[in-house]
Amino acid sequence: MSNIYQGREQTEAKHFILRRYLQTLAFKTLHGGWTLAYIDGFSGPWQSRTPDHSDSSFMIAVQVLKEAQLKVRASGKKPRIKCFFSEENRDSYAQLQAAVAPHHDPANGFFIETFKGKFENAVGPIQKTMGGSFALTFIDPTGWTGYEFGKVRPIFEHAPGEVLLNFMYDFVSRFAASSDPITLASFDGILGANWKDRLDKKLPREEALMALFTEQFWRAGKFEYVLSTPIEKISERTHFHIVYGTRNSKGLEAYRQVEYDALKDHGMRRAAAREVIRENKTGQSDLFGAAGAASVAEVSMEAQIATIKLQAKDWLRQQLPSCPKPFSEIWPMMLHNFMLRKTDAKDICAELGKSGELKETWRMNGSRRQKPDDADQIERA
Ligand SMILES: C[S@@+](CC[C@H](N)C(=O)[O-])C[C@H]1O[C@@H](n2cnc3c(N)ncnc32)[C@H](O)[C@@H]1O
Repeated sequence: MSNIYQGREQTEAKHFILRRYLQTLAFKTLHGGWTLAYIDGFSGPWQSRTPDHSDSSFMIAVQVLKEAQLKVRASGKKPRIKCFFSEENRDSYAQLQAAVAPHHDPANGFFIETFKGKFENAVGPIQKTMGGSFALTFIDPTGWTGYEFGKVRPIFEHAPGEVLLNFMYDFVSRFAASSDPITLASFDGILGANWKDRLDKKLPREEALMALFTEQFWRAGKFEYVLSTPIEKISERTHFHIVYGTRNSKGLEAYRQVEYDALKDHGMRRAAAREVIRENKTGQSDLFGAAGAASVAEVSMEAQIATIKLQAKDWLRQQLPSCPKPFSEIWPMMLHNFMLRKTDAKDICAELGKSGELKETWRMNGSRRQKPDDADQIERA
């Protein structure tokens, strides 16, 4: 574990997702000839442990985007990147501005704008920055206010664009149980009016809250796909959910891969951190220690994925009466409903092909392909 994240492994997981996803998105959009706009609404720095703020979301983004720009430029293109960072706190803003100013480089197509104030008051300037660009907006608040959908909707609706948001589930869950009318009303901006009556009583509390929030988020951005990744802290209680909205199946594919890598990495680090804490408390070392705990975590994640794959296989069986459909229509539906990657969707089809439930259309006309590609029809055998 890197020291700067010791004791805050959940922040490390959040930064892992941001870094990896932004890398993938930057290469895709810049190679495709887009200007990329990156918006960080709640920039910080916040509990940063490094003098250059390299453990802050804004600096992670600047580094990733500069690297991507260099690589894409080496292929003969002229990639342009625009960053917009807003931060309300005066001292944090001063640190943010000092850290990013040296990276503002208009001559090389790298633009950085900073805004001192509330994210919700920056909608106009942000829209200007986003104009004509592919935009990724990152929203990482300390609570549940400051991004009321009614106020920031134009940012969510920007197309082409995507939103990555840290939903502070623990806080929301705790305060949403309050009986204070003012506290309860403070959730209206993200959960909608009369939200308590609209919670699905049949679902466990976390699922019901996440379902309601996801629906409001989806409406705010008119997204095609909304995914939510739970990031747990060491005590096993869900700490937050990273919520991702996109209108593009390529985004869905990329995000599911990043999510898989993050949960694998986080699960292993979390298990290792737990083991170190246990050893420190008891003074006794486990036979395999932290490394052993990490490999147990990896096995259990693979077991979870195997279970999800079985559920997805059953779901696909239920879709078969409405087939044939090309694989390019099947996998986005599967990835939207299940925490799986495109490679898992291919495996599931291949297994159903082998068991005689699907026609192995991908092997027709002398093809030796073992798994379907986008154009292959998925149909009952
Ligand atoms: C959780 S921290 C951000 C951490 C940062 N994204 C990271 O990962 O390194 C939230 C930041 O938002 C700032 N903030 C709080 N309310 C805000 C608002 N309405 N608009 C803009 N910034 C706000 C806080 O001062 C704090 O620095």
